[in-house]
Amino acid sequence: MNAVEIEEAVSTLVEQPFDRDNFPFAFLEAFGNKETTLKKLRSGDSNKSDIGGVLQRNNIHLKVCAPGEVAKTLTALRESPATARLKAKFILATDGETIEAENLADDDEPIVCSYAEFSDHFGYFLPLAGITTVKQIRESSFDIKATGRLNRLYIELLKDNPEWATAARREDLNHFMARLIFCFFAEDTDIFHGKGLFSSTVEQMSAGDPSKTGEVISELFRAMNLPIRHEGKIDYRHRDAAGIRPWANVFPYVNGGLFGKPGSADVLVGMANGKANGKAGNDPPLASHSHADEDVGVPRANVDVGAPSVPRFSRIARAYLLKIGELPWQKINPDIFGSMIQAVADDEERGALGMHYTSVPNILKVLNPLFLDDLRAKLEEAGDNPRKLLNLRHRIARIRVFDPACGSGNFLVIAYKQLREIEAEINRRRGEAERKSDIPLTNFRGIELRHFSCEIARLALIIAEYQCDVLYRGQQLALAEFLPLEAANWITCGNALRLDWLSICPPTGKAVKNRADDLFETPLDQAEIDFANEGGETYICGNPPYLGAKKKSKEQSCDMDLCGLGSAQLLDYVAAFIIKGADFISHCKASIALVSTSSICQGEQVSLLWPRILDRVSIRFAYAPFKWSNSAANNAGVYCTVVGLDAESGGVKKLFIGDQVKICDSISPYLVSGLPVICYPTKNQICQLEKMVMGSNPVDGKRLILSHDEYCEMINEDSGSRKYILKYGGTDEINSGLNRWCIWVSDDEVKNAMDIPPIARRIANCREYRKTAGRDAQKAVNRAHAFCYSTYQDEVFLNVGKVIGNTTKFVPATLREKGYVSSDAAFTIYGIRLVEFAIIVSTLHRIWAEAVSGRLGNGTRYGNTTAYNTFPVPVLTEQNKVDLTRCAEEILLAREAHFPATIAELYDPQKMPAELRAAHDRNDETLERIYLGRRFKNDTERLEKLFELYTKMTAHAPAAKKAAKRRKGGEV
Ligand SMILES: C[S@@+](CC[C@H](N)C(=O)[O-])C[C@H]1O[C@@H](n2cnc3c(N)ncnc32)[C@H](O)[C@@H]1O
Repeated sequence: MNAVEIEEAVSTLVEQPFDRDNFPFAFLEAFGNKETTLKKLRSGDSNKSDIGGVLQRNNIHLKVCAPGEVAKTLTALRESPATARLKAKFILATDGETIEAENLADDDEPIVCSYAEFSDHFGYFLPLAGITTVKQIRESSFDIKATGRLNRLYIELLKDNPEWATAARREDLNHFMARLIFCFFAEDTDIFHGKGLFSSTVEQMSAGDPSKTGEVISELFRAMNLPIRHEGKIDYRHRDAAGIRPWANVFPYVNGGLFGKPGSADVLVGMANGKANGKAGNDPPLASHSHADEDVGVPRANVDVGAPSVPRFSRIARAYLLKIGELPWQKINPDIFGSMIQAVADDEERGALGMHYTSVPNILKVLNPLFLDDLRAKLEEAGDNPRKLLNLRHRIARIRVFDPACGSGNFLVIAYKQLREIEAEINRRRGEAERKSDIPLTNFRGIELRHFSCEIARLALIIAEYQCDVLYRGQQLALAEFLPLEAANWITCGNALRLDWLSICPPTGKAVKNRADDLFETPLDQAEIDFANEGGETYICGNPPYLGAKKKSKEQSCDMDLCGLGSAQLLDYVAAFIIKGADFISHCKASIALVSTSSICQGEQVSLLWPRILDRVSIRFAYAPFKWSNSAANNAGVYCTVVGLDAESGGVKKLFIGDQVKICDSISPYLVSGLPVICYPTKNQICQLEKMVMGSNPVDGKRLILSHDEYCEMINEDSGSRKYILKYGGTDEINSGLNRWCIWVSDDEVKNAMDIPPIARRIANCREYRKTAGRDAQKAVNRAHAFCYSTYQDEVFLNVGKVIGNTTKFVPATLREKGYVSSDAAFTIYGIRLVEFAIIVSTLHRIWAEAVSGRLGNGTRYGNTTAYNTFPVPVLTEQNKVDLTRCAEEILLAREAHFPATIAELYDPQKMPAELRAAHDRNDETLERIYLGRRFKNDTERLEKLFELYTKMTAHAPAAKKAAKRRKGGEV
């Protein structure tokens, strides 16, 4: 169950009469427990309560008590030995009047509320359903409730109006929903005079005939699209002329594009009168079908007096609408609401309704170091100095924040609110607490692909502006200046990778033509807006879609192409936003910080992305990879980073590592302190280690490879075949300790081997396969007895795996006996190479490999050219080699002591034998002393040292020169 479904179930439970006997089970059912689980609890089989309640192991201990005994019962639940023994996370007591509950596993405040209010607290118990989401979601029961209700209405309207489900009409439905949300907010915040004015008008006027609901709403929207003031006086001429019914006249003029019929020209009217920037004090000039046309010279055709698009309402849809109206919309939180509600219009996302949400702390990870920290420092510095405060206020008013993949606008909303907070403090210190804000909403710009999200983003900003006005200036002033809404377009609906960012967010502030589709359908050539940012700063931020190489659609690959990344499709999609951001920065005073997958700062992606931009931008701040936690649904395994870029190379750079901030001179694209050096794969080792090569590749469609059963069958059929079979394996076999087998016939043995029927059959099959396989296979048709590519030597060797699992934390490696064939799913170093073994299985090498190799699922793809050949090792003395050899032997002996345990078993972090761990520790210590004379403090220090050494060792190497050349030429 998702959060919205749980909220609905809890609300339904609370609306029913309280049932003492059934409450504990109904409660558990609301949180997703299945009937079989409940049955066992009911029968007492799994109910472990020792005080007559219901206790579900690892979850909750709850009890219904006699009236007035709630507090006493909660104490009994807390002190019950069974609560502790069975690790109950929650305790809950109720008498049907009051509820008290506690989260024993967290430091959340206890809940004390009336039973009727219980549904407002459902978020508190979400961990019971396995939803360990961020605290703010748990506390946003209003936003989840509203999302659930709006979702029902949306689906019902689609059912009643199937034609609105088409691509052509979806946008109308989206716009309609945005209008509704505005009306609900307005009727609960005194923007409409009279509490619940919108809902009650709809209810009353359609009471006699519910099918009229749509018409009533349409009439209200029509009214809100027409002014009622002229030169400061109430004047209903527009509305009279449009035939607005008297009962709709109590609604104010709202417009600003929200109630205008798509394509209407009211936006233009507003701007033609110089009011696009900043609030309009009056209504727009009269412009209706009457004499008013002549009054202001606006052609009649430009004026919208037609009926806005409103869908048909069934009885059920009407009931849903009125239920939504009952919610306390003044509680809406624009930081959260937008992210949740946007899923309503998205058939694919609806399953995770109420779950997608980027937490405010995560958004601030981007915004604080990007510009907010600096503004706060300047505020601190200004103290009470009026002139400095004034300068800072001017600066803030000219700051533009631009999110090129803004979704429902949460980064913009948070940025706006934070700037308002700083501005309010300035005004307070200057004794101008009630002063009108200088920060124009139009300075918060976004691009978003999805239409509904655009609508919601703009609405969220409008609501945020109103809420800030109420907070800092008081309700009266906020109300006086709120309407009509500003008509300018500042959220563009479109594909950011195909739009010109400089045109949407231009460096200078005059008369800009917005080339993209206007949010509210303003004809394209009309969106000329004076941006209030002349000479100001621009900050680009957001969290664009990450999308790894394989997850991109054809269109998205094409987007990458258009951004000049056609030859770098291995890059995550987010990289294209970084490229566009870097281009933008090169043209104007701006900085950019985007959340992205940490993979763009790892392995091959580094060499594909960073050489293209490091000549123009430098990393001003960055976060070491951290786990992205925006909701329970997509917590899994995504590691992110935030990289902040600007055009200036000087100044202090900040590297955020967990709770620490490291100040450094420069940050490398691998997210460590150090020069922006890029590690390119290379064919030859940069130090004196022995050569590592790929294993042998049969290209045989598995004709020459045998499973263990096939091997036994073949030996049974003809024991002579044994002579032509060798042990065979790759990474899986290193980890599992099992092996496969392969046919291995040298050229001078072919004749004899072909006398053995099962061998001859296999070779013949292989020949057939190669005839129609790829070019290389076809070349080897006549050598079907042999592997296509062989690096095999009849010698002992070191076998190194191609994947480092994300939990094992060691590069898998083992010594193989003579006569073992390594597949190409592993690497080989021939000879007894214990020094190389000690180095390969060290923590230092694993850290390096993780930084410079590509990802493979949750693990790391180990490569000889990427990780081994590039690994910097200081010159080893003979004594160093002796020490490392001893360490390697100790590791091998510690493994041997646990025979037949496999490498996978031995290196399971939960079960790793103590002596093996100790042997690795000694190995790490020995190697690290060679590098530093002591152990490294942490992985960051390890990586920094390795890059420092790498930079020195490759300074004159051909690979480095080639890289520098590539960087200059901008191609990779
Ligand atoms: C990860 S979401 C982030 C949105 C928002 N900041 C949040 O936290 O909810 C990425 C957004 O980018 C939008 N998007 C995807 N590709 C885009 C493109 N090429 N241009 C503009 N927006 C895009 C998606 O529709 C989605 O709303």
